[in-house]
Amino acid sequence: MNDLLNIEDIQVQFHVWNRIYQAVDGVSFTIPRRKSVALVGESGCGKTVTALSIMRLLPRPQAHIKQGKIYFDNQDLLKMSLPRYQKYYRGRLIGMMFQDPHSVLNPVISIQTQITEHVKYHLKMKTSEILDKANNIFQLVNLPAGEDILKKYPHQLSGGQIQRLMIAMTLMTDPSLIIADEPTTALDVTIQRQILDLLVALKSERDLSYLLITHNLAIVHYLVDIVCIMYAGQIVEWGPCEAIFQEPLHPYTRGLLDSVLTISKETKTKIRGIPGMVPEACDFPSGCRFHPRCPEKMNICSKEMPMLSENKEHAVRCWLYG
Ligand SMILES: Nc1ncnc2c1ncn2[C@@H]1O[C@H](COP(=O)(O)OP(=O)(O)OP(=O)(O)O)[C@@H](O)[C@H]1O
Ligand SMILES: [Mg+2]
Repeated sequence: MNDLLNIEDIQVQFHVWNRIYQAVDGVSFTIPRRKSVALVGESGCGKTVTALSIMRLLPRPQAHIKQGKIYFDNQDLLKMSLPRYQKYYRGRLIGMMFQDPHSVLNPVISIQTQITEHVKYHLKMKTSEILDKANNIFQLVNLPAGEDILKKYPHQLSGGQIQRLMIAMTLMTDPSLIIADEPTTALDVTIQRQILDLLVALKSERDLSYLLITHNLAIVHYLVDIVCIMYAGQIVEWGPCEAIFQEPLHPYTRGLLDSVLTISKETKTKIRGIPGMVPEACDFPSGCRFHPRCPEKMNICSKEMPMLSENKEHAVRCWLYG
Protein backbone atom coordinates (compact mmCIF):
# COMPACT_ATOMS: atom_id res chain seq x y z
CA MET A 1 0.00 0.00 0.00
CA ASN A 2 2.00 2.93 -1.22
CA ASP A 3 -0.73 5.47 -1.73
CA LEU A 4 -0.81 8.69 0.27
CA LEU A 5 -4.39 8.22 1.46
CA ASN A 6 -6.40 5.07 1.48
CA ILE A 7 -10.05 5.06 2.47
CA GLU A 8 -11.62 1.64 2.86
CA ASP A 9 -15.35 1.09 3.07
CA ILE A 10 -16.20 4.02 5.34
CA GLN A 11 -19.71 4.20 6.77
CA VAL A 12 -20.82 7.22 8.77
CA GLN A 13 -24.15 7.48 10.54
CA PHE A 14 -25.90 10.35 12.28
CA HIS A 15 -28.40 9.58 15.02
CA VAL A 16 -30.87 12.43 15.25
CA TRP A 17 -34.24 12.24 17.05
CA ASN A 18 -34.35 8.43 16.90
CA ARG A 19 -33.64 8.47 13.20
CA ILE A 20 -30.52 7.09 11.55
CA TYR A 21 -29.03 9.06 8.67
CA GLN A 22 -26.62 7.00 6.58
CA ALA A 23 -24.54 10.00 5.45
CA VAL A 24 -21.68 7.96 3.99
CA ASP A 25 -22.27 4.38 2.99
CA GLY A 26 -19.32 2.22 2.03
CA VAL A 27 -17.06 4.80 0.43
CA SER A 28 -13.60 3.65 -0.68
CA PHE A 29 -10.99 5.54 -2.69
CA THR A 30 -7.27 6.21 -2.74
CA ILE A 31 -5.16 9.27 -3.38
CA PRO A 32 -1.88 8.20 -4.99
CA ARG A 33 1.18 10.26 -4.01
CA ARG A 34 1.36 13.63 -5.78
CA LYS A 35 -2.05 13.05 -7.37
CA SER A 36 -5.24 14.92 -6.60
CA VAL A 37 -8.75 13.64 -6.25
CA ALA A 38 -12.10 15.42 -6.37
CA LEU A 39 -15.28 14.36 -4.62
CA VAL A 40 -18.15 15.73 -6.67
CA GLY A 41 -21.89 15.58 -6.14
CA GLU A 42 -24.96 17.59 -5.28
CA SER A 43 -25.71 18.98 -1.85
CA GLY A 44 -26.22 16.33 0.82
CA CYS A 45 -24.35 13.53 -0.98
CA GLY A 46 -21.85 13.02 1.86
CA LYS A 47 -18.77 14.88 0.57
CA THR A 48 -18.12 16.98 3.68
CA VAL A 49 -18.89 14.09 6.01
CA THR A 50 -16.27 12.02 4.15
CA ALA A 51 -13.72 14.83 4.61
CA LEU A 52 -14.62 15.31 8.28
CA SER A 53 -14.07 11.58 8.82
CA ILE A 54 -10.49 11.93 7.55
CA MET A 55 -9.99 15.02 9.73
CA ARG A 56 -11.61 13.29 12.74
CA LEU A 57 -13.89 16.29 13.09
CA LEU A 58 -17.30 14.66 12.88
CA PRO A 59 -19.79 16.32 15.23
CA ARG A 60 -20.15 14.35 18.48
CA PRO A 61 -22.19 12.67 19.74
CA GLN A 62 -24.60 12.53 16.77
CA ALA A 63 -22.12 11.18 14.23
CA HIS A 64 -20.05 8.06 14.36
CA ILE A 65 -17.97 6.02 11.97
CA LYS A 66 -19.72 2.70 11.95
CA GLN A 67 -17.07 0.90 9.96
CA GLY A 68 -14.10 1.38 7.68
CA LYS A 69 -10.45 2.31 7.76
CA ILE A 70 -8.50 5.39 6.77
CA TYR A 71 -4.76 5.13 6.16
CA PHE A 72 -2.50 8.10 5.58
CA ASP A 73 1.03 7.15 4.58
CA ASN A 74 0.30 3.63 5.85
CA GLN A 75 -0.73 4.92 9.30
CA ASP A 76 -4.19 3.99 10.55
CA LEU A 77 -5.68 7.44 11.26
CA LEU A 78 -8.77 6.24 13.07
CA LYS A 79 -6.88 4.00 15.48
CA MET A 80 -4.14 6.41 16.58
CA SER A 81 -4.57 8.50 19.74
CA LEU A 82 -6.26 11.87 19.27
CA PRO A 83 -3.28 13.87 20.70
CA ARG A 84 -0.93 12.17 18.21
CA TYR A 85 -3.38 12.77 15.38
CA GLN A 86 -3.76 16.46 16.27
CA LYS A 87 -0.05 17.12 16.54
CA TYR A 88 1.28 15.25 13.54
CA TYR A 89 -1.58 14.93 11.09
CA ARG A 90 -4.50 17.37 11.29
CA GLY A 91 -3.16 20.83 10.42
CA ARG A 92 0.36 19.46 9.97
CA LEU A 93 0.70 16.77 7.26
CA ILE A 94 -2.95 17.15 6.32
CA GLY A 95 -3.90 20.77 5.73
CA MET A 96 -7.45 22.03 5.46
CA MET A 97 -9.20 24.80 3.57
CA PHE A 98 -12.85 25.56 4.07
CA GLN A 99 -15.50 27.53 2.25
CA ASP A 100 -15.73 29.96 5.15
CA PRO A 101 -12.25 30.79 6.51
CA HIS A 102 -13.80 33.09 9.11
CA SER A 103 -15.08 29.99 10.88
CA VAL A 104 -11.48 28.87 11.37
CA LEU A 105 -9.75 32.17 12.17
CA ASN A 106 -10.19 33.90 15.51
CA PRO A 107 -11.55 37.43 14.87
CA VAL A 108 -9.92 39.02 17.94
CA ILE A 109 -6.38 37.66 17.50
CA SER A 110 -3.91 39.21 15.05
CA ILE A 111 -2.90 37.17 12.03
CA GLN A 112 0.73 37.11 13.19
CA THR A 113 -0.25 35.52 16.52
CA GLN A 114 -2.54 33.00 14.85
CA ILE A 115 0.17 31.92 12.43
CA THR A 116 2.92 31.61 15.06
CA GLU A 117 0.69 29.71 17.49
CA HIS A 118 -0.44 27.35 14.75
CA VAL A 119 3.12 26.58 13.64
CA LYS A 120 4.55 26.27 17.16
CA TYR A 121 1.92 23.69 18.04
CA HIS A 122 3.14 21.45 15.21
CA LEU A 123 6.82 22.27 14.66
CA LYS A 124 9.83 23.31 16.71
CA MET A 125 10.47 26.76 15.24
CA LYS A 126 11.40 30.13 16.73
CA THR A 127 9.08 33.10 16.17
CA SER A 128 11.65 34.83 13.94
CA GLU A 129 11.97 31.71 11.76
CA ILE A 130 8.21 31.43 11.51
CA LEU A 131 7.86 35.06 10.44
CA ASP A 132 10.59 34.66 7.79
CA LYS A 133 8.85 31.59 6.46
CA ALA A 134 5.50 33.38 6.51
CA ASN A 135 6.90 36.22 4.44
CA ASN A 136 8.27 33.76 1.86
CA ILE A 137 4.98 31.93 1.66
CA PHE A 138 3.02 35.21 1.41
CA GLN A 139 5.05 35.97 -1.70
CA LEU A 140 4.24 32.56 -3.11
CA VAL A 141 0.49 33.11 -2.64
CA ASN A 142 0.61 36.75 -3.78
CA LEU A 143 -0.07 38.40 -0.45
CA PRO A 144 1.78 41.57 0.52
CA ALA A 145 4.81 40.62 2.62
CA GLY A 146 5.67 41.97 6.08
CA GLU A 147 3.47 43.77 8.51
CA ASP A 148 0.83 44.69 5.94
CA ILE A 149 -0.94 41.44 6.63
CA LEU A 150 0.67 40.15 9.82
CA LYS A 151 -0.48 43.01 12.04
CA LYS A 152 -4.05 42.87 10.79
CA TYR A 153 -7.10 41.05 12.08
CA PRO A 154 -9.11 38.66 9.88
CA HIS A 155 -12.00 41.09 9.25
CA GLN A 156 -9.56 43.62 7.76
CA LEU A 157 -8.81 41.36 4.77
CA SER A 158 -10.89 40.92 1.59
CA GLY A 159 -12.46 37.56 0.68
CA GLY A 160 -9.69 36.75 -1.80
CA GLN A 161 -6.95 37.78 0.66
CA ILE A 162 -8.46 35.68 3.43
CA GLN A 163 -8.54 32.62 1.18
CA ARG A 164 -4.89 33.27 0.19
CA LEU A 165 -4.05 33.61 3.88
CA MET A 166 -5.71 30.24 4.57
CA ILE A 167 -3.58 28.67 1.83
CA ALA A 168 -0.47 30.34 3.30
CA MET A 169 -1.29 29.11 6.82
CA THR A 170 -1.85 25.61 5.49
CA LEU A 171 1.51 25.65 3.68
CA MET A 172 3.39 26.80 6.82
CA THR A 173 3.54 23.21 8.15
CA ASP A 174 4.64 21.65 4.81
CA PRO A 175 1.63 19.35 4.39
CA SER A 176 1.56 16.59 1.80
CA LEU A 177 -2.22 16.61 1.46
CA ILE A 178 -4.62 19.55 1.46
CA ILE A 179 -8.30 18.90 1.90
CA ALA A 180 -10.19 21.77 0.32
CA ASP A 181 -13.96 21.80 0.89
CA GLU A 182 -15.60 24.19 -1.61
CA PRO A 183 -12.59 26.54 -1.24
CA THR A 184 -13.78 29.03 -3.85
CA THR A 185 -17.56 28.83 -3.67
CA ALA A 186 -17.92 31.99 -1.60
CA LEU A 187 -15.71 34.06 -3.92
CA ASP A 188 -16.67 36.00 -7.01
CA VAL A 189 -15.74 34.49 -10.35
CA THR A 190 -12.52 36.40 -11.08
CA ILE A 191 -11.10 35.82 -7.60
CA GLN A 192 -12.23 32.19 -7.82
CA ARG A 193 -10.17 31.78 -10.94
CA GLN A 194 -7.09 33.39 -9.33
CA ILE A 195 -7.30 31.07 -6.31
CA LEU A 196 -7.70 28.00 -8.53
CA ASP A 197 -4.70 29.08 -10.62
CA LEU A 198 -2.73 29.47 -7.41
CA LEU A 199 -3.70 25.97 -6.25
CA VAL A 200 -2.64 24.56 -9.62
CA ALA A 201 0.75 26.32 -9.42
CA LEU A 202 1.38 25.18 -5.84
CA LYS A 203 0.51 21.61 -6.67
CA SER A 204 3.44 21.11 -9.01
CA GLU A 205 5.81 23.40 -7.12
CA ARG A 206 5.38 21.73 -3.73
CA ASP A 207 4.57 18.08 -4.50
CA LEU A 208 1.13 18.52 -3.00
CA SER A 209 -1.93 16.34 -3.27
CA TYR A 210 -5.42 17.73 -2.95
CA LEU A 211 -8.70 16.26 -1.94
CA LEU A 212 -10.99 18.80 -3.57
CA ILE A 213 -14.64 18.80 -2.61
CA THR A 214 -17.06 20.57 -4.87
CA HIS A 215 -20.45 20.39 -6.51
CA ASN A 216 -19.04 22.17 -9.55
CA LEU A 217 -17.57 19.77 -12.10
CA ALA A 218 -16.25 22.66 -14.17
CA ILE A 219 -13.58 23.58 -11.61
CA VAL A 220 -12.16 20.09 -11.13
CA HIS A 221 -11.12 19.93 -14.74
CA TYR A 222 -7.77 21.53 -14.42
CA LEU A 223 -6.97 20.81 -10.78
CA VAL A 224 -7.37 17.06 -10.21
CA ASP A 225 -6.27 13.76 -11.71
CA ILE A 226 -9.05 11.51 -10.44
CA VAL A 227 -12.75 12.28 -9.99
CA CYS A 228 -15.10 10.40 -7.64
CA ILE A 229 -18.76 11.13 -8.25
CA MET A 230 -20.87 10.77 -5.09
CA TYR A 231 -24.59 10.28 -4.87
CA ALA A 232 -26.63 9.60 -1.71
CA GLY A 233 -23.66 8.57 0.41
CA GLN A 234 -22.03 6.32 -2.19
CA ILE A 235 -19.48 6.62 -4.96
CA VAL A 236 -21.38 5.97 -8.17
CA GLU A 237 -18.51 6.49 -10.61
CA TRP A 238 -14.80 7.20 -10.40
CA GLY A 239 -12.02 7.45 -12.93
CA PRO A 240 -9.35 9.68 -14.41
CA CYS A 241 -10.54 13.23 -14.96
CA GLU A 242 -10.41 12.98 -18.79
CA ALA A 243 -12.44 9.77 -18.78
CA ILE A 244 -15.12 11.33 -16.58
CA PHE A 245 -15.41 14.31 -18.92
CA GLN A 246 -15.07 12.50 -22.24
CA GLU A 247 -16.72 9.20 -21.49
CA PRO A 248 -19.03 9.60 -18.48
CA LEU A 249 -20.79 6.29 -17.76
CA HIS A 250 -23.30 6.90 -14.99
CA PRO A 251 -26.51 8.75 -15.96
CA TYR A 252 -25.94 10.91 -12.85
CA THR A 253 -22.47 11.94 -14.02
CA ARG A 254 -23.89 12.77 -17.43
CA GLY A 255 -26.59 14.83 -15.74
CA LEU A 256 -23.98 16.74 -13.74
CA LEU A 257 -21.97 17.42 -16.89
CA ASP A 258 -25.09 18.61 -18.70
CA SER A 259 -25.77 21.00 -15.84
CA VAL A 260 -22.42 22.71 -16.30
CA LEU A 261 -23.06 26.00 -17.96
CA THR A 262 -21.64 25.94 -21.48
CA ILE A 263 -21.60 29.09 -23.49
CA SER A 264 -20.19 29.08 -26.99
CA LYS A 265 -20.77 31.02 -30.20
CA GLU A 266 -22.59 28.17 -31.92
CA THR A 267 -24.78 26.93 -29.10
CA LYS A 268 -26.70 29.38 -26.99
CA THR A 269 -26.50 29.11 -23.20
CA LYS A 270 -27.55 25.60 -22.31
CA ILE A 271 -28.40 24.45 -18.81
CA ARG A 272 -30.20 21.19 -18.29
CA GLY A 273 -30.50 20.21 -14.66
CA ILE A 274 -31.24 16.81 -13.20
CA PRO A 275 -34.92 16.69 -12.27
CA GLY A 276 -35.82 15.87 -8.66
CA MET A 277 -33.78 15.96 -5.49
CA VAL A 278 -31.17 13.91 -3.66
CA PRO A 279 -33.07 11.59 -1.28
CA GLU A 280 -32.74 12.13 2.47
CA ALA A 281 -30.09 9.99 4.11
CA CYS A 282 -32.71 8.44 6.40
CA ASP A 283 -34.96 7.44 3.55
CA PHE A 284 -33.05 6.06 0.58
CA PRO A 285 -35.12 4.38 -2.16
CA SER A 286 -34.70 0.66 -2.75
CA GLY A 287 -32.34 -0.55 -5.47
CA CYS A 288 -30.17 2.07 -7.14
CA ARG A 289 -30.51 5.27 -5.12
CA PHE A 290 -30.57 7.35 -8.30
CA HIS A 291 -33.35 5.38 -10.02
CA PRO A 292 -36.25 7.79 -9.21
CA ARG A 293 -34.41 10.53 -11.13
CA CYS A 294 -32.75 8.40 -13.79
CA PRO A 295 -33.73 8.93 -17.44
CA GLU A 296 -32.47 5.44 -18.29
CA LYS A 297 -33.96 3.36 -15.50
CA MET A 298 -34.86 -0.27 -16.10
CA ASN A 299 -36.94 -2.76 -14.09
CA ILE A 300 -34.05 -4.05 -12.05
CA CYS A 301 -32.99 -0.56 -10.95
CA SER A 302 -35.71 -0.14 -8.32
CA LYS A 303 -35.22 -3.68 -7.02
CA GLU A 304 -31.53 -4.33 -6.56
CA MET A 305 -28.68 -2.05 -5.69
CA PRO A 306 -25.89 -2.20 -8.28
CA MET A 307 -22.34 -2.73 -7.02
CA LEU A 308 -19.43 -0.54 -8.05
CA SER A 309 -17.74 -2.38 -10.94
CA GLU A 310 -14.29 -3.78 -10.25
CA ASN A 311 -12.62 -2.04 -13.14
CA LYS A 312 -9.34 -0.64 -11.82
CA GLU A 313 -9.28 2.32 -14.22
CA HIS A 314 -12.81 3.63 -14.43
CA ALA A 315 -15.58 2.14 -12.29
CA VAL A 316 -19.33 2.69 -12.26
CA ARG A 317 -22.27 1.61 -10.08
CA CYS A 318 -25.07 1.15 -12.63
CA TRP A 319 -27.15 -1.70 -14.07
CA LEU A 320 -26.64 -0.37 -17.61
CA TYR A 321 -23.22 -1.97 -17.42
CA GLY A 322 -24.35 -5.34 -16.07
N1 LIG B 1 -24.99 17.77 11.67
C1 LIG B 1 -25.73 16.85 11.04
N2 LIG B 1 -26.81 16.29 11.63
C2 LIG B 1 -27.53 15.33 11.02
N3 LIG B 1 -27.27 14.87 9.79
C3 LIG B 1 -26.24 15.39 9.14
C4 LIG B 1 -25.40 16.41 9.72
N4 LIG B 1 -24.43 16.75 8.83
C5 LIG B 1 -24.66 15.97 7.76
N5 LIG B 1 -25.73 15.15 7.94
C6 LIG B 1 -26.27 14.15 7.00
O1 LIG B 1 -25.23 13.77 6.13
C7 LIG B 1 -25.61 13.95 4.78
C8 LIG B 1 -24.40 14.38 4.00
O2 LIG B 1 -24.01 15.68 4.39
P1 LIG B 1 -22.71 16.42 3.83
O3 LIG B 1 -22.55 17.65 4.63
O4 LIG B 1 -21.57 15.47 3.79
O5 LIG B 1 -23.15 16.76 2.35
P2 LIG B 1 -22.31 17.49 1.22
O6 LIG B 1 -22.20 16.51 0.09
O7 LIG B 1 -21.06 18.03 1.78
O8 LIG B 1 -23.31 18.66 0.78
P3 LIG B 1 -23.00 20.22 0.44
O9 LIG B 1 -22.64 20.25 -1.01
O10 LIG B 1 -24.32 20.87 0.71
O11 LIG B 1 -21.92 20.71 1.34
C9 LIG B 1 -26.72 14.97 4.82
O12 LIG B 1 -27.62 14.77 3.79
C10 LIG B 1 -27.36 14.71 6.16
O13 LIG B 1 -28.33 13.67 6.03
MG1 LIG C 1 -20.36 19.97 2.10
